Amino acid sequence: MPYTLHRGDALTVLKSFPDESVDSVITDPPYNSGGRTSSDRTARTARAKYTSGDARHDLANFPGENRDQRSYRSWLTELLTEAYRASREHAVVMVFSDWRQEPTTSDALQMAGWTWSGTIPWIKPASRPRKGGPKQDSEFILWGVKGSLDKTRDLYLPGHFIASQPRKDRVHITQKPVEVMQQLVQVCPPGGTVLDPFTGSGSTGVAALKEGRNFVGVELSEHYAGIAEERLRGVLTQDDFELAGPEE
Ligand SMILES: C[S@@+](CC[C@H](N)C(=O)[O-])C[C@H]1O[C@@H](n2cnc3c(N)ncnc32)[C@H](O)[C@@H]1O
Repeated sequence: MPYTLHRGDALTVLKSFPDESVDSVITDPPYNSGGRTSSDRTARTARAKYTSGDARHDLANFPGENRDQRSYRSWLTELLTEAYRASREHAVVMVFSDWRQEPTTSDALQMAGWTWSGTIPWIKPASRPRKGGPKQDSEFILWGVKGSLDKTRDLYLPGHFIASQPRKDRVHITQKPVEVMQQLVQVCPPGGTVLDPFTGSGSTGVAALKEGRNFVGVELSEHYAGIAEERLRGVLTQDDFELAGPEE
């Protein structure tokens, strides 16, 4: 089976992983953002924070959105430290964030030992305009490396992405577009293993399998773990699924 999905707490599960057992870490943690004040950010649910009033879906809430700034930084640092230990030399880490949590995320990434190497904007054209100020249409993918990049690979990736969040067939409040994820998972060598400790509905895993990578994920919500399992199994049972051969 080219994927394993653990149901549980990311930090607890990661602590059981052997050293140097994955080739890249691509993840979209709960941002613990979504509000101007600390109480806005810690007291509101993910649904309240990240779903607009006129949203046409009624998707399930998810846990892990109630940390204040200091505890978010120490928790994310601990998590990324475990991910670093479990990663092989030259592994690339990619962590989604928003503008508010970008500084905290880059602190955590570096404190965990990764060499922060850049921030990739993800621009969402379908975002609503904001009266009196700039449209808030971007999220960010902070990336880093364990040691140095593997320069023997003939790999070139875009420095930004323009893509809307899935609308049709959307199953998670903060679901990421698989077409973007399919480009990001290229940082993992073909046949290697991508780790996503916050699997959600499984978009990273779906992309990894489609691109001939193995996948290991962790998800705390039973509801979303079930959806991820279904989507991952769906990729493997597609008629046209075949593990891609070496691309390089
Ligand atoms: C931002 S969402 C990920 C969405 C995903 N990228 C997708 O496309 O579906 C973060 C996920 O982390 C999960 N989560 C929150 N706290 C967690 C924890 N301590 N351990 C594992 N998963 C957790 C939430 O249930 C949520 O599904």
